[in-house]
Amino acid sequence: MAANPTILILNGPNLNLLGLREPEIYGSETLSEIEDSCLDCAARLDLSIDFRQSNHEGQLVDWIQEARQSADGIILNAGAYTHTSVAILDALNAAAVPAIEVHLSNIFRREEFRHNSFVSRAARGVICGFGGHGYELALTAMARLLRGGN
Ligand code: DQA
Repeated sequence: MAANPTILILNGPNLNLLGLREPEIYGSETLSEIEDSCLDCAARLDLSIDFRQSNHEGQLVDWIQEARQSADGIILNAGAYTHTSVAILDALNAAAVPAIEVHLSNIFRREEFRHNSFVSRAARGVICGFGGHGYELALTAMARLLRGGN
């Protein structure tokens, strides 16, 4: 494990619209503001981050596959693919690095179809309902996980 582990932070479909999209559910913070908070948080934790967003399932699968070589852990908000994508689940199971699932909203307070997560089956843990702050909570958990805590 590198002294300064790299965490791949992946964001799925429609998360590029944060700030504009249903602010009553997702808040007013933009994805780029969340990235900035993650950069500050990662610096405090001696982590490096690689923060990305795609609207395309196959692109997310490609990035998860690459994590084998290029990252020590994955933090993933797969957006709606959370609830539909066996391909993302398979990629996470093959990735051989720990994954933490994040959602801005509390998916369990919302529609029934959001209660199932394929991602959860491969995740070490799930953080949802704390808006953008959830990404910082996930980084803190990941730092501890990688350094031998739980
Ligand atoms: C989300 C929750 C998903 O159900 C939804 O499809 C999203 C965002 C969240 O961060 O709360 O796109 O992942």
